Amino acid sequence: MTDLFSKFDPLIQQREELLATGLTDPFNLVMERVESPTVAICSGKRTILLGTYNYMGMTFDPDVVAAGKKALDEFGSGTTGSRVLNGTYVGHRAVEDALKDFYAMDHAMVFSTGYQANLGVISTIAGKEDYIVLDIDSHASIYDGCALGNAQIVPFRHNDIEALEKRLKRIPEGAGKLVVLEGVYSMLGDMAPLREMVAVSKANGAMVLVDEAHSMGFIGEHGRGVAEAQGIIEDVDFIIGTFSKSVGTVGGFCVSNHPKFEILRLVCRPYVFTASLPPSVVATAATSIRKLMDSADKRAHLWENSKRLHAGLRQLGFTLGTEEPQSAIIAVIMPDLEKGAAMWEALLNEGLYVNLARPPATPAGMTLLRCSLCALHSEEQVGEILGMFAAAGRATGCIS
Ligand SMILES: Cc1ncc(COP(=O)(O)O)c(C=O)c1O
Repeated sequence: MTDLFSKFDPLIQQREELLATGLTDPFNLVMERVESPTVAICSGKRTILLGTYNYMGMTFDPDVVAAGKKALDEFGSGTTGSRVLNGTYVGHRAVEDALKDFYAMDHAMVFSTGYQANLGVISTIAGKEDYIVLDIDSHASIYDGCALGNAQIVPFRHNDIEALEKRLKRIPEGAGKLVVLEGVYSMLGDMAPLREMVAVSKANGAMVLVDEAHSMGFIGEHGRGVAEAQGIIEDVDFIIGTFSKSVGTVGGFCVSNHPKFEILRLVCRPYVFTASLPPSVVATAATSIRKLMDSADKRAHLWENSKRLHAGLRQLGFTLGTEEPQSAIIAVIMPDLEKGAAMWEALLNEGLYVNLARPPATPAGMTLLRCSLCALHSEEQVGEILGMFAAAGRATGCIS
C-alpha cells in the first residue's frame, strides 16, 4: 500500500524541527476568552489582537449581538437545509436586501463563506471553453474556483497593468473572458490599480470580478471597497465579499447588476449543495452591514491607526510590505521562517497577537508577520503595540 500521506513528509519534518527548538506552535493558538475586538486572553495573559481582520470591530457591537440572540430565540440554531429547499428564512432575504442597499446594486446572493462565494461564482460563470485572467497573487479560493470550473487559467504578474493587457490580447477572438482581481491583497496589504485594470479588461471584451474581502466596510466613501474609492464600481460586473472580516461574523456574498444574475441560484453548486447560514448569523450580518453604511468616523480612525502603525514600524527599522499604508493590513517582512516564528513568539510573550504567514500562502516565498488593524484600536493601544515590536525585535535580533 502506498501511504497517501507520504507527500506531506517534508512539511511534517519542517514543523517538527521548528517545534523541537521549544517554540510555541504559531498555528495552534487558543483564545481562552475574547474580551473585545482588540483584546483576548491567551495562555492566561491579556493579549492585544492585531491579526484578526476584524477591521471595523463589529463582533461585540451591542446591536449586532442583540440581533443574533433574538434570531436564535425566534428561529432556532440552524436551518438544516439548502437555500433552494428549506434553508431560506426571512433573515436570508434581509441580509441580501442589506447588501443590495449597501452596494446600491440590483442583486445579492449570500453563500456560507467567502471561500464558497469565489468557488461558486467563478466556477459557474467560467467553464471549460472560457479564459480566466487573474493576478498571480490571488487568494486560494479564486484559484480553487478556476479549477472547479475547468476554465483556462491565465495568470499575470501581481498588479501589472501591462501584463494583464498582454495576456488579454493573446486570448482567441470571441472566447469568454473573465478577469479576476482583488481590491486589497491580503498578504502585503497593497491595493490594486483597479481603475486602469478594469479599463483594460473592458477594452478587451472581458467581464470583471473583484474580490473586496479586505476592503469592504473600510475603503471608499461608503465602505464599498477599492472599486468605489477609484470611481469605477459601475464598471465591475461582480463583487465578491465576506462577512468574516469587517462584517464580523461568517458568510460570503456576490453582488451584481447583471440582468441574468438570479439564475445562479439554480446552477451554482456551492450555493445549492450546502446548508444555508444559521438565522443568528444572517441577523448579525444584516445589522452589521446596515451599521457599516454609516461608519465614516470609524473609517477615518482606522486610516489614522494604519498610518500610525506603518510609520512607527518603519521608524523602528522593520521592512514593510508597502512603502505607504494602503489598507488596514501592515505586513512586516521577516528574513526567514525561523526568525519569523521567533519574532511571532516574542510578540506573543509581550502580549500581542499577529498572523504568521509563510509560503505557499505568501508571494515570493516570503515569511510575513501580518498586522491587521481594527477601528477600535485606540491611539494608546497602537503606542503599546509599537513598544512590543521594539522589545521583541531587539530580543530576536530582527532590529538593532
Ligand atoms: C481575498 C479573500 N477572498 C476570500 C476569502 C474567504 O473568506 P471567508 O473567510 O469568508 O471564507 C478570504 C479569506 O481570507 C480572502 O482573503
